[in-house]
Amino acid sequence: MNIDTGVVAPAGMRVEEYARIGELLHRDKPKRTLEIGMANGGSTVQICNAHKANGVGGQHTAIDPFQSAITGWKGAGHVAVAKAGYTNIVRVIEDFDYLALPQLVRDRERFDFVLIDGWHSFDYTLVDFFYTDLLLEPGGVIAIHDTGWPAVHKVCRFIETHKPYDLLSPSPSVTLSARFARLGRRFGQMAGLTDAVAARSRRTEWYSLAAYRKRSDQQVADDFHATF
Ligand SMILES: C[S@@+](CC[C@H](N)C(=O)[O-])C[C@H]1O[C@@H](n2cnc3c(N)ncnc32)[C@H](O)[C@@H]1O
Repeated sequence: MNIDTGVVAPAGMRVEEYARIGELLHRDKPKRTLEIGMANGGSTVQICNAHKANGVGGQHTAIDPFQSAITGWKGAGHVAVAKAGYTNIVRVIEDFDYLALPQLVRDRERFDFVLIDGWHSFDYTLVDFFYTDLLLEPGGVIAIHDTGWPAVHKVCRFIETHKPYDLLSPSPSVTLSARFARLGRRFGQMAGLTDAVAARSRRTEWYSLAAYRKRSDQQVADDFHATF
């Protein structure tokens, strides 16, 4: 699932990426968190660990259509949540994002933190962002995983060019082969285009995770277009 470096993470993400999510959650102490893509529950447990440490009565919702499916995760996420003792603060919605998210909007639910880590095609990721934006309180945070994938990166570019969100992580970049990435960095630094500190933090601390803070509820004007 993680194409960043060819190193397979023990759970869904690298430990460094989980640590960044933990930091975001410890900083803001959000009460209502949501994730799209639960898999074996790695991110679910991390988020709940932060809720426990924060002690503000946080509740978590996870959406994954394949959580209990025999051909899917076979309930591995449920088991991880139960083993960690978080069943009472976790709600799992076993449905597709494009059905579950609009229902949450219809039910007038709001969230303070959302992790997007579901199906990583452009259309699904954009749908996830679209509904997340409707569900997220101003001041809330979106974390997006696998931003090195071109389709997910394109959604990040859409957010940055069209929506009132502030980047909290180093700028996401498409994952290149290690050799091309090195050449690109060298060229960028020589040409003064690359912030070396941010680029290093992206490579060694954030990997394929990006985070944005929402400034306000704001619909894109229907005659506005910026290239992204
Ligand atoms: C990369 S894994 C998530 C890893 C998890 N966040 C973690 O860190 O352990 C992607 C997940 O998205 C789920 N998924 C696939 N299509 C989906 C959809 N249409 N809506 C919601 N989730 C979906 C998959 O079942 C899988 O569990």
